[in-house]
Amino acid sequence: MSASGLRTPKLRRGIGWRLLLSIMLFSSVVTLVLTVAQLYLDYRTEVGEIRDRFEEIGKSYLGSLGGSLWSLDVDQIQLLINGIKHLPDIQFVEVREIGRGNQRQVVVSAGERGAESLISRDYPILYSSEKDQAEPEAIGQLHIEASLSGVYGRIADRATAILVSQGVKTFLVSSFTLFIVHRLVTRHLVFLSGFLRGYRLGAPDTSVRLPRSAPNPADELDDMTAALNAMSTSLAASVSERELALRQLRLQETALDRAYRHFTTQETAAKLAHEIKQPLACVSTYVQGLQAQIGADALNTGELPVLMERIAREVKRVLEIIAATQSRITSPTGASEPLRIAEVLLDVLPLLRQICDDSSVRAHMDLSGAASVVMGNSPSIQQVAVNLVRNACEAMVQMPPRQRSMRLTLAETNSRIGFTVQDTGPGFSPEIVKTGHALFASRKIKGSGFGLPIANAIMSAHGGSLEIANDESGGARVTCWLPKSASGGVD
Ligand SMILES: Nc1ncnc2c1ncn2[C@@H]1O[C@H](COP(=O)(O)OP(=O)(O)OP(=O)(O)O)[C@@H](O)[C@H]1O
Ligand SMILES: [Mg+2]
Repeated sequence: MSASGLRTPKLRRGIGWRLLLSIMLFSSVVTLVLTVAQLYLDYRTEVGEIRDRFEEIGKSYLGSLGGSLWSLDVDQIQLLINGIKHLPDIQFVEVREIGRGNQRQVVVSAGERGAESLISRDYPILYSSEKDQAEPEAIGQLHIEASLSGVYGRIADRATAILVSQGVKTFLVSSFTLFIVHRLVTRHLVFLSGFLRGYRLGAPDTSVRLPRSAPNPADELDDMTAALNAMSTSLAASVSERELALRQLRLQETALDRAYRHFTTQETAAKLAHEIKQPLACVSTYVQGLQAQIGADALNTGELPVLMERIAREVKRVLEIIAATQSRITSPTGASEPLRIAEVLLDVLPLLRQICDDSSVRAHMDLSGAASVVMGNSPSIQQVAVNLVRNACEAMVQMPPRQRSMRLTLAETNSRIGFTVQDTGPGFSPEIVKTGHALFASRKIKGSGFGLPIANAIMSAHGGSLEIANDESGGARVTCWLPKSASGGVD
């Protein structure tokens, strides 16, 4: 599969969108905090300007107001306070004369008195009537009120301008970021996940190439692609290694099975039947001849010894054929040599494990201990182990996989050494446990029922034995015993 043939994904609501939202949210919060700080500073500046204006008014108007008030020139006073009133943010100005005797107080004002959001200041209006008067006399009071609503309005306008411009800027920058992240990262991530989803081991091309011109130096996505390709290569290598190992296991199993089946083939039975058919036919003919003579009451007793001798000869022939077959079956092992059981079984451990795996049986194999040497033929002993483990797995096939378990351990007494195959299956039927053999006792559709007898024969040929029993828990337990070698060591 060529991954480069995959289509480049479109923008979708994934990481990019979450990034966009996160940037917008964060940026909005920052903009808001900065704007509030900025507006607070502006507010302080504006209020400071109003206070400065108050100072200016004090300096430039109080003198003229003093003169006009002393001469009670109301028009002039009105003119002056109108001038003050027109200054920015000033909403109310009032000049109040401090009473002189019983005269009516002069009060001149401009604008509306405010109720809230204002700053006010009162100035005494001083005047020196005499030239050499040391202390000027307070003849009135100037009251000025400045409204803050203008300040608030200007600040609100500024806030709106800042927020709108920042909002637009944030949106544009975030959208651009989303586009960049999509182009540089997320579309490649989606592309890689598409590649992985369609990944098939054994496809002609299992490498992936990103749809972009390679950056220099390589970036994280290049690293990731390289890692994926390396993983794909090592995966393919380990799978083919495993397949090779499996094939070898199967070959080993077939070879062992062929040796095993040698003793159990129908050919053996057919050959035996064929060989004994003829002598039995002779015996049958002689017996029928005798029966005919007896039936006709014409038994020739003179011929009897000859006939009996012929019958005995044919029966002896049958017995000889059976004995010859038996000796072939009971001496099934090849050449014997000194060996250690653990090493013999170690050779077939992968095969035993595979047989268990194929039937979802948990295998516990402990080949520690029992180091003594026996005389024997390694392939025959291995075949016995393979058949016992296969029997154990076949016996548990009806059980839930969780309960399927097989244990292979070594056993040793003073004179014998062997191995035990235990399982958690239903155990042997009582007849098999009682008789200790299972010739033709197969309950399996494809079973021959020769497995245990031949295992028994192999053990006997080694001078050992096969112990068939059930555990207290109910599972089957078969132990193969071999006599310890008196002399030898292993080369
Ligand atoms: N571990 C076991 N647990 C329960 N029953 C068993 C076990 N091993 C063998 N048996 C019983 O003994 C019978 C005879 O086993 P044997 O190995 O001789 O022949 P088979 O397994 O039926 O056929 P083959 O080995 O030729 O495939 C089996 O059919 C089965 O009923
Ligand atoms: Mg069997």
